[in-house]
Amino acid sequence: MLVTFSLNGKTVEADVSPTRTLLDWLREDRGLTGTKEGCNEGDCGACTVMVSDETASRALNACILFMPQIHGKALRTVEGIASPDGEMHPVQGAMVEHHGSQCGFCTPGFVVSMAVGHLNGRCDHNDVLAGNLCRCTGYAPIVRAAKAAADSPVPNWIKPKAVTAGDLPDQPETLDGFAKWYVDNPDATLIAGATDVGLWVTKRLEELTKPVFLNRYSELQNIHVSDDFIHVGAGVTIAELLPVLRDHHPSYGELVRRYGSDQVRQAATIGGNIANGSPIGDNPPALIALGAVLQLRCGGQNREMQVEDFFIEYGRQDRRAGEFVTGVSLPKSAPGLRCYKLSKRFDQDISAVLGCFNLTVDDGVVTEARIAFGGMAGVPKRATVVEAEVTNKPWSSETIEAVLPLFRDDFAPLSDMRASADYRMKAAQNMLWRYFYETTGNSVDVLAVHP
Ligand SMILES: Cc1cc2nc3c(=O)[nH]c(=O)nc-3n(C[C@H](O)[C@H](O)[C@H](O)COP(=O)(O)OP(=O)(O)OC[C@H]3O[C@@H](n4cnc5c(N)ncnc54)[C@H](O)[C@@H]3O)c2cc1C
Ligand code: FES
Ligand code: FES
Repeated sequence: MLVTFSLNGKTVEADVSPTRTLLDWLREDRGLTGTKEGCNEGDCGACTVMVSDETASRALNACILFMPQIHGKALRTVEGIASPDGEMHPVQGAMVEHHGSQCGFCTPGFVVSMAVGHLNGRCDHNDVLAGNLCRCTGYAPIVRAAKAAADSPVPNWIKPKAVTAGDLPDQPETLDGFAKWYVDNPDATLIAGATDVGLWVTKRLEELTKPVFLNRYSELQNIHVSDDFIHVGAGVTIAELLPVLRDHHPSYGELVRRYGSDQVRQAATIGGNIANGSPIGDNPPALIALGAVLQLRCGGQNREMQVEDFFIEYGRQDRRAGEFVTGVSLPKSAPGLRCYKLSKRFDQDISAVLGCFNLTVDDGVVTEARIAFGGMAGVPKRATVVEAEVTNKPWSSETIEAVLPLFRDDFAPLSDMRASADYRMKAAQNMLWRYFYETTGNSVDVLAVHP
């Protein structure tokens, strides 16, 4: 497949297999070995590159990025961060000045993440760098360097330039064409952000059947906010969703801020996070608690369902052959929504238990309850027994005490590397307490320290 893009300011064409990762191509075919391979699964950020298009410049992990995903885009690797005549980028100078590097293995990834953050005027340095792991320097000098560089002007050479590239060869050109093609090729592998699919190639060494790239279809990438609803196209990335959630559903926004790392959020899509059917995906429990509606398309036919109905059992979703997810609609307002993610590491970690609560309390009585959990069953699942028991009851500690044993009627969690079954059960019950305390005026922010 012929892929056209700009590499450090020069247009290149690469004839590659559609599942060739950008990291392998850079290192093996171009000798650009500044981009490092650490984990090869999106966790360490050693392979971070800058990818720009007409909408934004993003830091992405090259190890789980397939070459066709950068067709028509401008790519900058660590070799292209300094000016062509060797002048250091302000973040590079600041890294030297602030002793931000020891062994140096992580440094190219950090420098690229910092350059993207600098270009985008970001000052949330901890979030920008949470996807870059350093074993020896420690983060304080690196964050100091990012802060020190923040006020320097963006160098001209780093500003992305437009790339001219035609359609991606061997791919249906339009969404309608793709929908028709997929009915005839239901064994195809749909690739959105590749933050799951990438690992099937790099870790499971799978050969993908008929890979098809959904990022070509702009219709899947819209967010539309109406009077009552927010419609999110399946191809919207978690990073694009984040500011909209912050505005309308701050607790869900805070959950998503901790979704993977910036590099992962810039690639992963909401459609992929739902369609993969994972019991520990972060979006489904929040969407279920909100009563969100999922949209699917098969050829020329569209259908809708409640998000919770999509998940039938572990590994099985209500998706027909040749059908794909087009989007999801969620209510614009839900003042009662709170989302609590529990993971071993605060940033960049998959949930062990995720509890999402959306209760309406009128005059001290619960009038409506939607409670959904991830990590408590083979699918993201509502706590229907607990919901029924709290409804029409006073919102009080006595009610909470009375319903806690009923969690065992809703869930029989498993033990795995993330948590034991007992721990999961206890954590889920405690989240109901946390919700109670939060909605009755107590501070439960785990990041806040109170004297
Ligand atoms: C380092 C790392 C950290 C992560 N952290 C988190 C985390 O904190 N929380 C979390 O929830 N997940 C996390 N993940 C998992 C991953 O990001 C998500 O599952 C992601 O949302 C998948 O979306 P994607 O667009 O990358 O999907 P892809 O990998 O492209 O696809 C995933 C699956 O969905 C299918 N698919 C994609 N789009 C559609 C569609 N429109 N219709 C039908 N099928 C479709 C694909 O065929 C595939 O089966 C992490 C992953 C990595 C690598
Ligand atoms: S090599 Fe670790 S994120 Fe790519
Ligand atoms: S400097 Fe050694 S891993 Fe960061």
